[in-house]
Amino acid sequence: MFDNPAMLVQKNVPLQPFNTFHIVAKAHALVRITGESDVQALLADPEMAAVPKFVLGGGSNIVLTGDVRALVLKVEVMGRRLVRETAKAFIVEAGAGENWHDFVTWTLDAGYPGLENMALIPGTVGASPVQNIGAYGVELQDRFDSLDAIDLQTGQLFTLNAAQCAFGYRDSVFKHVSASDTEAGHRAVGLKDRALILRVRFALPKPWEPVLGYADIDKQMAEHQCTQPNAQQLYDWVCAIRRAKLPDPDVIGNAGSFFKNPTVSSEQCADIIARDPKLVHYVLADGSVKLAAGWLIDACGWRGKSVGQAGVYEKQALVLVNRGTGLVGGSGATGGEVMLLAKAIQTSVYERFGILLETEPVII
Ligand code: EPU
Repeated sequence: MFDNPAMLVQKNVPLQPFNTFHIVAKAHALVRITGESDVQALLADPEMAAVPKFVLGGGSNIVLTGDVRALVLKVEVMGRRLVRETAKAFIVEAGAGENWHDFVTWTLDAGYPGLENMALIPGTVGASPVQNIGAYGVELQDRFDSLDAIDLQTGQLFTLNAAQCAFGYRDSVFKHVSASDTEAGHRAVGLKDRALILRVRFALPKPWEPVLGYADIDKQMAEHQCTQPNAQQLYDWVCAIRRAKLPDPDVIGNAGSFFKNPTVSSEQCADIIARDPKLVHYVLADGSVKLAAGWLIDACGWRGKSVGQAGVYEKQALVLVNRGTGLVGGSGATGGEVMLLAKAIQTSVYERFGILLETEPVII
């Protein structure tokens, strides 16, 4: 199997360097994808075309709970360019394999601001639409233009606009499998394990306007006595905020926020506040209320706790970390330990607040 000389298939590849949790696991077989022709060559081999496939980007939003049996397609499509400039926006494109933060830095240096609030998010450009990354008041969908992808069954290239990506909070069409029978009787389109994203285009609005109004940013504005920051200042502040409260995956393995911030009804929120007046919450436009999952976890006493070598980060309870990363000879937390810790947190938050926290990374 996988002995096609035309393809560079690597076997038994350690995945520890390719996931930001630095969990030890292996890919039985791995192919590096540098463009659509690599996918087409792969699909031309009937044996390879038939096997299940797993698309790996920067590995910043996955938990590996064992060796990966599916053929791992490691996306290494590179390149960054200005596609065109219109009266309203710069349309900028990047290959899916480009590092997200390096791309954000490049756009600013090249004079195309607009991504600064999302600086320093770990991962690749190709993974950014999958979970609709976001930070400090800006989500990917606010800056998205379109993307090119390839169908892993047919080898056909296709382009999707924002509506077709069905973006939601840390969600998109790429996180869902296709289902033929939904409650409404429609065919729900899902592209999980079906599409490999090759290139993403962003529309960076002109004229640039800062996105402010987030508590941590407001604090920086007050500290620097600056009411009208430029894009570079915002970028520097976002980097400083993230470095202060989020662990650097190169130093301590992690996958960013491990849970989504849950949304509840105003009644349920009032009920919790009656018992826990300090509950951190944000009222949404439709009257429902978003709760800070980090606060809920913290209130249950989890900050700093561990299961084996999987732990809850001391400075931000929403982030689970691999305490074994960097230890000489240590193999670190297993995916099983991370999931055991996650389940224990979910149980105690459910018992105390009646809320089931949803995990944000994809569990493999
Ligand atoms: N809080 C606590 N204790 C904690 C953690 C948080 O009380 O241990 C409180 C904070 O004091 C704050 C509130 O919870 O009042 C919210 O915390 P924070 O501002 O750090 O943001 P978050 O809701 O925890 C979200 C995103 C982050 C993003 C930040 C900034 C999700 C799941 N997470 O975190 O995204 O960087 O807002 O916009 O929506 C990621 O997705 O990986 C990620 C890091």
